Amino acid sequence: MTGLAIIGGSGFTSIKELKIVKREIIRTPFGETSAPLTYGILGDHKFVFLPRHGAAHTIPPHKVNYRANLWALSHIGIEKIVAVAAVGGIRKDMLPGSIAIPDQIIDYTYGRANTFYEDDLTHVTHIDFTEPYTESLRQGLLKAAEALNLDIIANGTYGATQGPRLETAQEINKLERDGCDLVGMTGMPEAALARELNLSYACCAVVANWGAGRNHGPILMTEIDKNLSGGMEKVKELLSILPSYI
Ligand code: HPA
Repeated sequence: MTGLAIIGGSGFTSIKELKIVKREIIRTPFGETSAPLTYGILGDHKFVFLPRHGAAHTIPPHKVNYRANLWALSHIGIEKIVAVAAVGGIRKDMLPGSIAIPDQIIDYTYGRANTFYEDDLTHVTHIDFTEPYTESLRQGLLKAAEALNLDIIANGTYGATQGPRLETAQEINKLERDGCDLVGMTGMPEAALARELNLSYACCAVVANWGAGRNHGPILMTEIDKNLSGGMEKVKELLSILPSYI
């Protein structure tokens, strides 16, 4: 059993350096998780890994069973989660290939099962979500990056869009006016569900592309794949030493 889990996103559906100890299917009241949980060792540390989009990257952002994933991780005793996510860059310094640790979220998603507090309630519950990410875990990621001399952006507001399509150029302009620095499709309801289960949760965002309209021409999958593969190598290094900093 280990206390730290990594939820992998696009470009991060497996970690080849993870020495796998076991795989486990967890039955949940909310249905199936995206994949069996993988227990393994990365660096000198134990981790549990769960690819959000499934082992073969077949589950789109709006179809991810966020409740099952979070419930299963909590059920096996996970206390801390680092969510790895591919995002589009909006703020000037969010260059493709860079890594950011966001500190705020704006939620634009809809129609997703976004709470555990729904049925059989004895009272209505409103969780505090003023600071959507766990600051101690964010700081751990920043310290680990510093130890590795890794350039990392220490803050940012994550705009969570519904997808699976990418945004229009004007939608990106609107997100920017709202205060979003980066944009992705999986940040919510994952973060809120983690908070409902009292789990520490932080996001390690890898910028895959400029937001729509911020570069010449359309957003190309080839460009996304290229930027993600470089960024995710750095994320792996970061995660492999993170337990020493949290
Ligand atoms: N928008 C939304 N989600 C994303 C993007 C984007 O530009 N790039 C990677 N995930």
